[in-house]
Amino acid sequence: MSNNRIFEDYLEKIKLFQKYNKHYYDLNNPLVDDQEFDKLKSEIIKLEKKNKFLNSTNSPSNSVGFKPSKVFKKVKHSVPMLSLGNAFTEDDLINFEKKILNFLNKGNDFRIIYSAEPKIDGISASLIYRNGKFVTGLSRGDGKEGEDITENLKTIKDIPHLIKSKNFPREIDIRGEVFIQNSDFEKLKNKFANPRNAASGSLRQKDPKETKKIPLKFIAYTFGHEKGLKAVSQNEYLENLKEWGFKTNPLNKTLEKIENLMTNYQEIEKKRGEIDFDIDGIVYKVNEFNLQKRLGNVANAPRWAIAHKFSANSGISKINDIEIQIGRTGALTPVAKINPVNIGGVVVSNATLHNEEEINRKDIRVNDTVLIERAGDVIPHVVSVDLKMRNKDSKKFNFPLKCPSCGSKTIKDFNFTTKKEDAVRRCSSEGYECKKMSIEKIKHFVSKEAFNIEGFGKKIVENFWNLNLVKLPPDIFKLDFKKIESLDGWGKQSVANLRYSINLRKKISFEKFIYALGIRHIGLENAKIIAKNLKSLKNFLALSKKSNFDDLMNIDGIGETQINSIKNFFNNETNLKVLKNLNELLEVKDVEKPKVGGPLSNKTFMFTGKLSNMSRSEAKSLIEQNSGSIVSNVTKKLDYLIIGEKPTNRKVDAAKNLGVKILDQSSWLKMLK
Ligand code: IVH
Repeated sequence: MSNNRIFEDYLEKIKLFQKYNKHYYDLNNPLVDDQEFDKLKSEIIKLEKKNKFLNSTNSPSNSVGFKPSKVFKKVKHSVPMLSLGNAFTEDDLINFEKKILNFLNKGNDFRIIYSAEPKIDGISASLIYRNGKFVTGLSRGDGKEGEDITENLKTIKDIPHLIKSKNFPREIDIRGEVFIQNSDFEKLKNKFANPRNAASGSLRQKDPKETKKIPLKFIAYTFGHEKGLKAVSQNEYLENLKEWGFKTNPLNKTLEKIENLMTNYQEIEKKRGEIDFDIDGIVYKVNEFNLQKRLGNVANAPRWAIAHKFSANSGISKINDIEIQIGRTGALTPVAKINPVNIGGVVVSNATLHNEEEINRKDIRVNDTVLIERAGDVIPHVVSVDLKMRNKDSKKFNFPLKCPSCGSKTIKDFNFTTKKEDAVRRCSSEGYECKKMSIEKIKHFVSKEAFNIEGFGKKIVENFWNLNLVKLPPDIFKLDFKKIESLDGWGKQSVANLRYSINLRKKISFEKFIYALGIRHIGLENAKIIAKNLKSLKNFLALSKKSNFDDLMNIDGIGETQINSIKNFFNNETNLKVLKNLNELLEVKDVEKPKVGGPLSNKTFMFTGKLSNMSRSEAKSLIEQNSGSIVSNVTKKLDYLIIGEKPTNRKVDAAKNLGVKILDQSSWLKMLK
């Protein structure tokens, strides 16, 4: 089934689920019996499990407990179990704090202390203790009324049945989260969509013996009503909980200032994959109970707490237009311009449609309602179309057969390996004849891994191109700086800086030079191989006079595709002119014979974190110049781990465990010649 169909089917089921819920819950008039209801629920969950892109706030996996089971007695919560407002960005947090300060009539210098607690994605429960004895346990239910699941909760080892501590209140409703650790969920994953569902399902078994079979955990974090609680703040209360025998989240922290909340958030989000339970954000609570009391609640959430959510990864939007972008190698990439949608705290207004084939396969059209996914740093993409939302007069998208930038024919290459046409359509002009392609080529030429001309950003390339200052790479080294000085936004100092960074790169390694030319299929690795084998620019230029490329043919790692691409490059007059001019303007260093016996010989190195004033590739080449070698894993064979800014903790820990030497950048540089 196509993703479109799956998505459609899914939305239909969600709608039905909402309808059943409404009739049961709000209208008190169930449309179907429990079995039918459960069947629908499990169908939705099955779909979500099979198709990771499906996700809806109305899904049963996001609204566990909405429908209280009739198996359990319903009990009113003495204090409602509230939910939390959400924050996604730093601005949301600043706003949250502002409102608190306003409410308390305090100025900006008033320091609010927060309890920052990773938000476990499980099922909340309320445990009522009288005179130290666990008497009643309730699920959240709808927040006002829960189900009596005492016997099931009693099977959880983390929940004490009797507490004898002196400072334990006469009566208290301890609240926290029931959840399953990811490692335990592994064994149950055929039965449930996710750990949260597994916890909910197990907790609400009719027979507590069934619950007992599942390794449920409990972490405590708040309370409802209490009589005799001595703590005056959340962090004191969390300490109390530990004394009384409860588990609390080991990653809880007491913090002040939004900037520190942000750092903590980022650190924990990074660690998310390593933690053995699902967390979906950080809960911040005003630490002082008397301030909490003063702040009170808005609707069904407290004014003194907020959930800072981690990025969710999908959202629904509408395509306003489909734009075609042209890349350095002429590839035509369709991009959907969509109504801005907040996906996990980032406002997304562009989504890639990859290529012509993808548009055809998913039948994506302008004005379509689509599901957008954003994962990590990857460019957001369109997952599927909601066909039900499509207008009757909607028209199929016609992919341009001419390059929108230069009007040349667009072509699809035949791939000899797959024996198929490529999925990507390209502009057939060979480079600098197409405006968009040539701008992209120049951006590539000055980029970090190529000439690395500092301060020569993408906007400047576009600007200089439009002003006829830089049409071809050699123009960069013949710039009229006087003219630039008179341009809007430029001054003496900025021009001096630009001139300095350009001059710095007039001397360049042969491999970087080859890479910077932006020949299709010649990335950094291939450029390196070619440079190593041809040794000098002179030998490279000589290729232009050859009818065969025997010298390249025998190079290990260079195949037919690359050779054809290089041939095409040399068949173009503009490319030859560019090469000739660059040769006159620059000093391209010959490849030196690999030094043996350099100061790093027989030593292996690995980097983690950002280095200062140096790219990774420069650092790697320094190692190689000094006869050292680079490895990509922390193993016993690694001699040195070099750490820059914000290193990956996992790598540092692994290195420590294996006794690998850890160096900072300056100590490492001292080892070099
Ligand atoms: S405090 C009024 N603390 O988040 C305060 N909740 O969206 C509400 N949760 O239903 C609860 N970790 O299931 C609180 N450290 C934590 C939490 C936490 C997870 C869940 C809980 C609650 C939901 C609110």
